Parts: sequence; C-alpha cells; structure tokens
Amino acid sequence: KRTVILVSGRGSNMNALMEAASDPAYPAEIVGVISDNEDAHALQVAAARGIATQIVNHASKADQDAAIDAVLTEFQAEIIALAGYMRLLSASFVENWLGRIINIHPSLLPSFKGLDPHSRALEAGVKIHGCSVHFVTAAMDDGPIIAQAAVPVLAGDDEALLAARVLKAEHGLYPLALRLVAENKISMKERKTHLSNGGS
Ligand code: GRF
Repeated sequence: KRTVILVSGRGSNMNALMEAASDPAYPAEIVGVISDNEDAHALQVAAARGIATQIVNHASKADQDAAIDAVLTEFQAEIIALAGYMRLLSASFVENWLGRIINIHPSLLPSFKGLDPHSRALEAGVKIHGCSVHFVTAAMDDGPIIAQAAVPVLAGDDEALLAARVLKAEHGLYPLALRLVAENKISMKERKTHLSNGGS
C-alpha cells in the first residue's frame, strides 16, 4: 500500500517505517514525506534514503489541509502515517481519510494524550508506560487503538531516560502496526478496530 508520512521534526519513527519498508516483502511502500517544517531533520533523513519530500506550511488549517490533500493525491497515497506531525488535522480532512490515517503517540492511550506525556507519567507515578498506534479521528490522540507496547518506569528515571526507553519501543511498534493496517488485518469499523484473519 502506498504510504505517505507526515512529520514536523526529528523523524526517527519515519526512519523506522522506512527501514521496515525497505524489505520488498513489507506490505507498505513509503512513497513520500510531507513536512510542515522546512527545518525538520526528517527531511534530510528522507532525502538520504531517496524518498520524495514536500514542505507544506500554511497558516490557516483549511489551507494547510487542502494543500496536504493535493500532495497526497499527487503521491497517490493509500495510507497516511503521522510520525511526530505536530498539527491537529481538521475534522473534514480526517473524515475524508477515515480508517486510512494512523498516528503514534508515546503513552499507553487513553492515558496522557497531548503534550509532555513522559513528564506527566512520571508525575502520576505509573509503573508501566509505553506507546500506542491508533487510527486518527478528529480528536487529538483519540481513535481506535491498533497496537501498544509497554515499558517499565524504573527508579531513577527522568524524562529523558523514560522518553528514550519509550522511543525504542516506538521504533519496534510502528512498523508492526503499519503492517497490520497495510495487510488489512486490522481496520476501523464504526469507530472501533476490527480484526480480520487476513486477505487484502
Ligand atoms: C515520537 O515520540 C512520537 O510518538 C510523537 O512525537 C515523537 C516524534 O519523534 N508523536 P520522531 O520525529 O519520530 O523522532
């Protein structure tokens, strides 16, 4: 399945998806990257891998999402993977692509949606933390969960240590989740995830 990745920054999850997709047997092909930030490190990573990139950066949400939609059409995208894309997509855009947009968030959803999940996890004193890949709906970090990975919170953790442990889990989880979606093993039906035995 033709997959386009939306980024704003570092791009380590994007890179993990590209690494997985470099195996010809992987069911998703990364055909392009869209960034709303011209300085995103992700753009250099994608270019080094020879993957097409586009910068789309409009002030208004309506203009931004219309421009992204046009680029997605150009790329003939079938799946959109958000990987550290820091803007909320408009409800109409999400509705248009419903069931075909996925996101990774560094917490065990529905806990710690939004910014600073690691410091809030430490503050809350949870002993298990982690990351989630979910189908995107109009609400932030909401939507049916596709897959999760857990990591322990250890004595002596600070935000950086915990974030690094979760990030490592993210890099394993996201390729697995995209594979499930690209193979139609999991899909979104009536706002819930639906498991199937395969087929395409
Ligand atoms: C990751 O922690 C991801 O879960 C969150 O933003 C961060 C992006 O990091 N949505 P990277 O750009 O993939 O390195």
